[in-house]
Amino acid sequence: MDFILFGLIAYLLGSIPTAVWVGKMRFNLDIREHGSKNAGATNTFRVLGKNAGIFVLTVDVLKGVLAVVIPFLVNDFLWNNDHLIHLKIVSGILVVIGHIFPLFAGFKGGKGVATSLGVILGVHPQAALICIVLFLIVFIAFNYVSLGAIISSAAFPLLVVFVFKNENTSLTIFSVVLSSAVIILHHQNIKRLIAGNENKMNLFKK
Ligand code: G3P
Repeated sequence: MDFILFGLIAYLLGSIPTAVWVGKMRFNLDIREHGSKNAGATNTFRVLGKNAGIFVLTVDVLKGVLAVVIPFLVNDFLWNNDHLIHLKIVSGILVVIGHIFPLFAGFKGGKGVATSLGVILGVHPQAALICIVLFLIVFIAFNYVSLGAIISSAAFPLLVVFVFKNENTSLTIFSVVLSSAVIILHHQNIKRLIAGNENKMNLFKK
């Protein structure tokens, strides 16, 4: 029963289409028709500017954090730690699904990078912090947000299993599923990276 309740809360949280609503309410445009056409923080930076980008990034990360922290906050209902990790995993997957297929924006959302970051901060903060550092190194070195997102996503399950020696099978499967989903959603970015025409973004210039 609590899986359905927390899963539903997580999906609805993820469904808040921050980039779409900021675009429509503040700039009178649909972000999904501009730039890379992705309803995410990167495209918001690109099309709507720094302030809107930071706002979308913050809210999208918070959606992920909240979805996995809510079951923890109400842990009086929970039976044991094993149950809690399963609830976090289900909520984590559903908040990202909500972000990618948002109920409140015609099921056309973003690629789940910022929301996944929030989720992994709540599920495995140590691995998440290393992913952030890795992302920043790749982004600053090559000026591609997508490459940073792809490499840090790929690193997450490897860190969980090989560096932090996780022995919880559910957590391992979750890390692989989340990482694969984010990478697969970047298929167009991967094609552009290979072709050499991916959009660049300079952290220090814009
Ligand atoms: O957050 C998604 C990012 O990795 C790529 O975004 O707009 O360049 O496709 P975009």
